[in-house]
Amino acid sequence: MTDNHADITKLQQDEEKREHIVSTITRMFAPEDDALRQAIASAKEADMPAIQISPLQGKMLQLLAAACNAHKILEIGSLAGYSGIWLARALPAGGRLIALEISPKHAEVVRNSFARAGVADRTEVRVGKALDLLPQLQSEAPFDLVFIDADKPPYPQYLAWALKLTRPGSIIVADNCIRGGRALAPDDQDEGTRGVYQYNTDVINNPRLVSLALAMDDEYMDGFTISVVQA
Ligand code: SAH
Ligand code: DHB
Ligand code: MG
Repeated sequence: MTDNHADITKLQQDEEKREHIVSTITRMFAPEDDALRQAIASAKEADMPAIQISPLQGKMLQLLAAACNAHKILEIGSLAGYSGIWLARALPAGGRLIALEISPKHAEVVRNSFARAGVADRTEVRVGKALDLLPQLQSEAPFDLVFIDADKPPYPQYLAWALKLTRPGSIIVADNCIRGGRALAPDDQDEGTRGVYQYNTDVINNPRLVSLALAMDDEYMDGFTISVVQA
């Protein structure tokens, strides 16, 4: 047996170990219930892409909501309501999640997902282009947590709105901020990836924000950038 072969065997064992660790943490800390599984199933039935966050990311959103005592949460981009269920379930009695979604079809699926999850009373889905809906939210600010997960080219504009709509101590989270490393370097071919790179640069350079990109999805190839708003 060559050393090369031994190296490959070791890599495969490490890979299996990492997968085992992620699935075990998921089972222990972030198990899905029927409503979460149904949200994914209904997306599939409606021919929508399976691009929702992972269970561990859902639990991370709940942890962050708890950390900033979130009563008001804003989500930009809802798909089938999977991340929205995790967020809405982190709210205390009287709390509110506003979800912005451009597709009327997706919005309908989201409302059904929220109803099945028992969070219809504390959630509201607004249909439209996020950049058109965000200015109307100023009278409902401040939001304690903003989760950005819609189209990628306007991520820097979503950040600017998130900063307007939050308070010191609020948390701003954006999905897909690593993209296999492509969103950590300038001049990518993809406009969306360039938007996310600009987002990362903007949070890093903003003295009001403490930020970190956290590889925790897609076998550590993708993940959130998390920012806390300071005074
Ligand atoms: N947050 C979801 C996944 C969102 S996928 C989850 O993890 O469960 C991205 C969603 O953003 C899609 O439903 C898409 O229709 C929506 N979207 C895309 N462009 C948008 C825009 N300009 N304004 C609002 N929503 C948008
Ligand atoms: C895509 C969008 C997402 O928000 C995501 O988490 C994964 C993929 C996409 O548009 O391909
Ligand atoms: Mg995403």
